[in-house]
Amino acid sequence: MMLSISMTAVQADPSGMTIEFRDHHKLVQSVRLDEFDTIAPVHILEIFEAHEKRTRAYKAYPARAVFDRIFGKRWRAAEEIVFVSKDGYQPSIPVEKFLTFDAYLAFASADGSPFMLDNLLQNEEMVDLGPLYLVWDNLQSPALRQEGASDMPYQLIAIELTTFATRFPRLVPPAGASPAAKRGFLHFRKHCLACHTINGEGGGKAPELNYPVSVTEYIRPEYLRRWLDEPASIRYNTTMPALAAETPQREQVIAEIITYLETMRTQKGIQNTLDTREMP
Ligand code: HEC
Repeated sequence: MMLSISMTAVQADPSGMTIEFRDHHKLVQSVRLDEFDTIAPVHILEIFEAHEKRTRAYKAYPARAVFDRIFGKRWRAAEEIVFVSKDGYQPSIPVEKFLTFDAYLAFASADGSPFMLDNLLQNEEMVDLGPLYLVWDNLQSPALRQEGASDMPYQLIAIELTTFATRFPRLVPPAGASPAAKRGFLHFRKHCLACHTINGEGGGKAPELNYPVSVTEYIRPEYLRRWLDEPASIRYNTTMPALAAETPQREQVIAEIITYLETMRTQKGIQNTLDTREMP
């Protein structure tokens, strides 16, 4: 009883929450939210808030300054940065994107309102954003606006440098896969992997899609296409977001993602302690 009371108290005050910075699974530093002021300057940043489809201002630390301070310059030579959210969302974002565009780690609303948002894309209201929320200086950037909300994880509790192939070895299509399947894999990485797993690898916010039975085996193709296009037209009140409306060549992207999922039917396998069967 005492324990649960003190846990609640810790969560109510986000300043004491810690964010873990890791380099290929190894802990580099654990930083309390109230220590970030000593690491990087606070900016007021106005962005297009893709979850709410409106402009909104946050108090935030520049991501490059934070990474330089914690990892040293070596993070710039890494391949990917994985962001781990409390709710299981887990996007893996190429380092290149952080060198090309300006990212920030937001910790409060600029106007003092609660640090929460309505995630219209996932049919969720008043979602907590703390302790940290990754946002982009996107008001002047059509390229960033096209990306929708996929690289905007909130409730961040860990930030990890990694390489894609070592972190997600069971997601890659086989060498002989068609060009469409290989393109579909890149789209899947960008739009789906933060929530879903394939062969047990990926985000923990949504169901596994390949093992032991692929979604392409039990969902008819025309319904799968429609599910990616507009999930709410199939399941009332679903929290799965449609593929971002701004996605260029959206129909083709959907078709290629399905081709990738079909290809992965021949690549089933999972590594965990409970079930190590290799499926045919
Ligand atoms: C923000 C998280 C999120 C993203 C991003 C996301 N999904 Fe989902 N997806 C979900 C959730 C949650 C469910 C379960 C929803 C439900 O049952 O109503 C789901 C369900 C599904 C299902 C149905 C599985 C079943 O057996 O019922 C498929 C197929 C699917 N997603 C494919 C995809 C693909 C492909 C993408 C990328 C284009 C994608 N999802 C992106 C959250 C997400």
